[in-house]
Amino acid sequence: MSKPRKRFALLAIAALAISGALAACSPSGSDSDSTDGSGDTIKIGLLLPETKTARYEAFDRPLFEDKITSLGNYEVVYANAAQDADKQLQQAESALTEGIKVLVLDPVDGTAAVTIVEAAAAQDVPVIAYDRFIKSDKVSYYISFDNEKVGVLQATALVDKLKADGTTTGLIMINGSPTDANAADFKKAAHSVIDPSGIPILAEFDTPDWSPDKAQEWAAGQVTQFGTEMSGVYAANDGTAGGAIAAMKAAGTDPWPPVTGQDAELAGIQRIVAGDQFMTVYKAIKLQAELAAEVAHQLAQGKTPEPDTTVQDIPSTLLTPVVVTVDNIQETVIDDGFWTVDQICTADYADACAAAGLQ
Ligand code: GAL
Repeated sequence: MSKPRKRFALLAIAALAISGALAACSPSGSDSDSTDGSGDTIKIGLLLPETKTARYEAFDRPLFEDKITSLGNYEVVYANAAQDADKQLQQAESALTEGIKVLVLDPVDGTAAVTIVEAAAAQDVPVIAYDRFIKSDKVSYYISFDNEKVGVLQATALVDKLKADGTTTGLIMINGSPTDANAADFKKAAHSVIDPSGIPILAEFDTPDWSPDKAQEWAAGQVTQFGTEMSGVYAANDGTAGGAIAAMKAAGTDPWPPVTGQDAELAGIQRIVAGDQFMTVYKAIKLQAELAAEVAHQLAQGKTPEPDTTVQDIPSTLLTPVVVTVDNIQETVIDDGFWTVDQICTADYADACAAAGLQ
């Protein structure tokens, strides 16, 4: 597919997702839509889960805030739980006390978050499960990416690469946080591809808090134990990929195994350009955050958003993740405005960028 058509495909997916979710939405945008009748601003809670992964402060928060405040007279009550589920419960209680009308919740712990959903429901505050699923029939809407597809894309890219290179002695799996429902989806879906591939899984780890440091520490032990038998690294996101790569660099690993990732973080894209990381998964967070703002706007007005689909009976929208390798950085994250060439191609990456055709 040519460059312009690929870009069109990304935008078309975006347009479809948004038009589907908003089919029941009446035209709006005036300030009067988002006041409670007294002319006061309406408060919307946004609770994000952690600070170990760049996306939340760099993209999710500002994109959500920009969009919701463009839709009317809204004020965002924001908090980041810094990977602490108890802290998130307190943040939710405090936001509810402040009088939020809708809660957009990306849970640290999908199970513990049911308590937050119950507390919100008791005050008639609708909850949007943002990015991570919460198993409660009191959730009003779930907005995420197709998380099983993420795991399939990662594992398929890795297995295909190992087979093409003839380096199938064994891989390690660095999964995400055991409290994150998405991490379970990525892991299960990755297994569905790796298990039947015949490539041995030498060892596997669920990374507490998605912490790159903990991934690095664990990976260092595997490098020592398995040496060159370790011919591939499944890492569930770019943070844990960065940990594994740091461990292998410290050990002088050679030959260098392909490493997967997710989130298309700037550091991840730069590692792909430099050849340290094989792939990542790009998720268009702008679409996700703006859709969450649109749905929150509707819920704040007492409307019922029309879903594209349901997940465990919860009205939902699942956006489409996209594989990024060195061959399609331009057509994905750059053409989509996620990163610029200038941001990626700093002095340290100038030669690698030229070799990758990025300019
Ligand atoms: C997942 C999310 C990923 C990644 C990870 C670590 O739930 O879908 O995009 O950010 O958490 O925070």
